[in-house]
Amino acid sequence: MNDGGERRFGPLGTTLVIIPTYNESENIKAIVGRVRTAVPAAHVLIADDNSPDGTGKLADELTVDDDQVHVLHRKGKEGLGAAYLAGFRWGLERGYGVLVEMDADGSHQPEELPRLLTALKGADLVLGSRWVPGGRVVNWPKSREFISRGGSLYSRVLLDVPIRDVTGGYRAFRRETLESLGLDDVSSQGYCFQVDLARRAVKAGHHVVEVPITFVERELGDSKMSRDILVEALWRVTTWGVGERAGRVLGRTRRH
Ligand code: GDD
Ligand code: MN
Repeated sequence: MNDGGERRFGPLGTTLVIIPTYNESENIKAIVGRVRTAVPAAHVLIADDNSPDGTGKLADELTVDDDQVHVLHRKGKEGLGAAYLAGFRWGLERGYGVLVEMDADGSHQPEELPRLLTALKGADLVLGSRWVPGGRVVNWPKSREFISRGGSLYSRVLLDVPIRDVTGGYRAFRRETLESLGLDDVSSQGYCFQVDLARRAVKAGHHVVEVPITFVERELGDSKMSRDILVEALWRVTTWGVGERAGRVLGRTRRH
């Protein structure tokens, strides 16, 4: 998280907004429409894990009259992380300059995307943040807020990353940033994928900027948050943290 003050950042190139979906048939049409209106130049990629509720078919219908909407059909539910990795690969292969992560359920408001993209002009990675001044959450139960704030705090302290909202999923990456993160060896499947990428970006010395967002809890469909996702996040973050500390201690011992 170096200060990007003196650096020059190159032009941004075309934006691809990647929207992972699993059973989002009630949300997909509205979210794609909102993205297309909010940032008309951007393309959209829906990464669907063969949703049983037919989200993939609805997504295909959206491509008929709009050549800026694309669909990546995946064979089954493999987690948010795997869907994003496939989406990033798809976008990098096709030369997009900016890759955006956005949930399908309206929690990440497309109308806030222009602000994220403006911030990216002077950054390597922009994180939409609920937990910086000006950021907030609408309609979340206290229990969910506790988990999210707690998860961010635990990750921030253990991994030593100066980010307030390290689990958030509304982000804009420059392609060069993604290319430098070693995506081929990311194995995080659930929401800890977000922590994994944020920590890699900080360790790589990138200029990471948090921009306040208003996260609006979904009105339609269900969250995919589960006990398994929490357990994966807890053990992975702990393993990374302990691994890094052990590495530092060993490094120090060897030098003496
Ligand atoms: N393709 C695919 N495969 N998509 C998935 C999967 C999966 O296995 N699991 C979830 N998604 C999609 C959902 O359809 C939705 O578009 C998006 O990922 C986020 O899922 P939600 O279930 O709505 O997440 P949430 O609201 O509980 O969690 C939010 O907060 C987390 C913690 O801060 C998200 O913003 C997460 O990204 C974030 O980590
Ligand atoms: Mn959600």
